[in-house]
Amino acid sequence: MSGLVRPCGARPAACGCGDLTPWQPGVNDVERFVVWGGQRLSGTVSISGSKNAVLPMMAAAVMSPELCALKGVPALRDVSVMRQILERLGVEVGWHPDGTLEMQARELGTCEVREELSRQMRSSIFLMGPLLARAGKVKVAYPGGCAIGPRPIDLHLRGLEALGARLRERHGYIYGEATRLRGQEIHLDFPSVGATENIMMAAVLARGVTVIRNAAKEPEIVDLQNFLNGMGARVTGAGTDVIRIEGVRELGGCVHQVIPDRIEAGTMMVAAAVTGGDVVVSGVIPEHLEAVTAKLKEAGVSVTPAGPGQLRVQGPERPRATDFKTLPYPGFPTDMQPQVMALMCLAEGTSVITETVFENRFKHADELRRMGAQIKVEGRTAVVKGSPVLFGALVEATDLRSGAALVLAGLAAEGVTTVEDCCHIDRGYERLEAKLGGLGARIERSGPAGSVSALP
Ligand code: UD1
Repeated sequence: MSGLVRPCGARPAACGCGDLTPWQPGVNDVERFVVWGGQRLSGTVSISGSKNAVLPMMAAAVMSPELCALKGVPALRDVSVMRQILERLGVEVGWHPDGTLEMQARELGTCEVREELSRQMRSSIFLMGPLLARAGKVKVAYPGGCAIGPRPIDLHLRGLEALGARLRERHGYIYGEATRLRGQEIHLDFPSVGATENIMMAAVLARGVTVIRNAAKEPEIVDLQNFLNGMGARVTGAGTDVIRIEGVRELGGCVHQVIPDRIEAGTMMVAAAVTGGDVVVSGVIPEHLEAVTAKLKEAGVSVTPAGPGQLRVQGPERPRATDFKTLPYPGFPTDMQPQVMALMCLAEGTSVITETVFENRFKHADELRRMGAQIKVEGRTAVVKGSPVLFGALVEATDLRSGAALVLAGLAAEGVTTVEDCCHIDRGYERLEAKLGGLGARIERSGPAGSVSALP
């Protein structure tokens, strides 16, 4: 990436957000959230559609020449980057402000996902399976490491090779070719979410039957199955560890409503908990939130049904310490670990947090310490000694969920917290400051104006 083109004004190479605004020192400097702590949140907040469900579906749309429409698409930076990728491939994309995204891949002009776009978003590798299936070739930049660890893609590559794709890596790109992919039995060493989705998508247009064993069971995979079946695919078993895909010759169009974002919902639940607030989180699927709900209840937070698709969350005066370990679904989600760590920083007692999904996902601990948190990290374990109070400080969002955790800590802290590089947060939260503001939080975005207004 050129020195003068950097995402959203963040430090070069620090951001994966996808806004290629020419950077001028002192003009479009980093965006930040400024949070004045101490407000108890109350009211109702609506949850947006799931980012992690939308991204693979957008990639899957290249497999059909007909119109595919997604409803409930959140206006996020990652969605915006995926839209740019699709448009460069020749897909016609239309965005309606009600959250409907229309995509039609009548013909593909190219099968190359250019480096400047694929480096901004790891999810660009979702194009591998669909492009191999539709066009028999793909060229995509190898995704680099990221703030939460090295994140290899060996399971994606091995799965696609098992289906008959010929892959090679040269000069940082992966080149793939296939005539028609063939159905196969595939056993994943680890239930990787992305590998399960990539293989599922490739197998949809393959000849014969593919069975994925030890598949990931996340709700976003069930939603992808429903979307693909809406296009005419024959996929069963998503949500269990065995997924069966019977290949079809072609796919048609469909209209699909995206599931609500369980991580945004969990983050809002912690926002209520950490401020001792009383918030109704609306438009959720409570079963998707069971692991988070169970942990919050252990910590003394009240979570009760408040109507269809609604949970009422009431925070205690002070949470209780509780241990937890991240695991693939239905275990506790790694994407909620930083936010619940922020809550544990204020708990009575000491909690032990074990991260088993990603190697290096405790960077937020350094930032939380600046706010007075007492956290010791050793390998994949963090020991958090709860303090009665946190203090506002200048902190940096190193990745999406860490950024959210720092905002949550700021809501509960004494004084003012400035969370720098909030472009990371915009990758996965739609108007976070507006949603929290609607619950009574005092939070403002400052820095270069207008960079999120045109999304996606
Ligand atoms: C997805 C989510 C991400 C979430 C993660 C785990 C999307 C767009 N992102 O990421 O928000 O944090 O699931 O719930 O849906 N691994 C390998 N080889 C591979 C693939 C993965 O070793 O080929 C490892 C990873 O390094 C990681 C673990 O498996 O340690 C889990 O990764 P995976 O489930 O693939 O996560 P993602 O699909 O990248």
